Amino acid sequence: MDNPVGIFDSGIGGLTVVKEVIKLLPHENLVYFGDTARVPYGIKSKETIIKFSLENTLFLLQQDVKMIVIACNTSSSLALPIIRRHFKIPIIGVIMPGAKEAVYATKNKKVGVIGTRATINSGAYEEEIKRLDAGIKVFSQACPMFVPIVEEGWINDAITTKVAEKYLSVLKSKGIDTLILGCTHYPLLKNKIQQVMGKAVKLIDSAEQVAIEVKQVLSQEGVLNKERSRPSREYFVSDEVAIFKNVAKSFLGNELKEVKRVSNV
Ligand code: DGL
Repeated sequence: MDNPVGIFDSGIGGLTVVKEVIKLLPHENLVYFGDTARVPYGIKSKETIIKFSLENTLFLLQQDVKMIVIACNTSSSLALPIIRRHFKIPIIGVIMPGAKEAVYATKNKKVGVIGTRATINSGAYEEEIKRLDAGIKVFSQACPMFVPIVEEGWINDAITTKVAEKYLSVLKSKGIDTLILGCTHYPLLKNKIQQVMGKAVKLIDSAEQVAIEVKQVLSQEGVLNKERSRPSREYFVSDEVAIFKNVAKSFLGNELKEVKRVSNV
């Protein structure tokens, strides 16, 4: 079935998920929507995040997608259950795949979660981890400054080390052996976070886990694309295209030739 897989995010960060999906499923057609006009979601209220997420879902449905991936951790935390209730096609978020992997990885049953304020305040990761294994202790920390740091491209700067040390020291003191990178942007800071947390802590990149989940869902539904021709990948944003294109390179590793601006969400 050659209908595209739809992926949405509050902005550019969901490209970390796109990258992993392309790596694992190179023949799938994709439609990406980044709600750049209304980013960030991580500091907004639950009602607003649900409203925006529903609108993004409707936009992707208009593109005839066969499944939807909510790449945004904040939307996944707060809006996924509600969105699922409204639509019939498979819709997955990033919380469950990341939580599952963390539960599998931890040996000392102490797991850390980092994300936006809205994600951490929602308790979504903690709830999912406890549902899978009630014996696991979860320690959470919001790291709101990581998002602008990544978008500024300050991945290896000394200031980033300072910020990471400040946010992560509490988690370090708890003796966690596994840390979920619960935000689209954080995989880009993997090296820095690993350096601060130490080698012994296993970092869970939810983007990788989500790609695995997408493959599982498509094969369960019998809708994996059998076509081997060049896949189509369309990128839509709700605000200025040039800014998105500039930053996209650091997320995807390559330039995006065409990005379309839409105003109907
Ligand atoms: N995409 C968001 C997330 O993964 C981060 C950016 C935002 O706050 O909208 O939570």
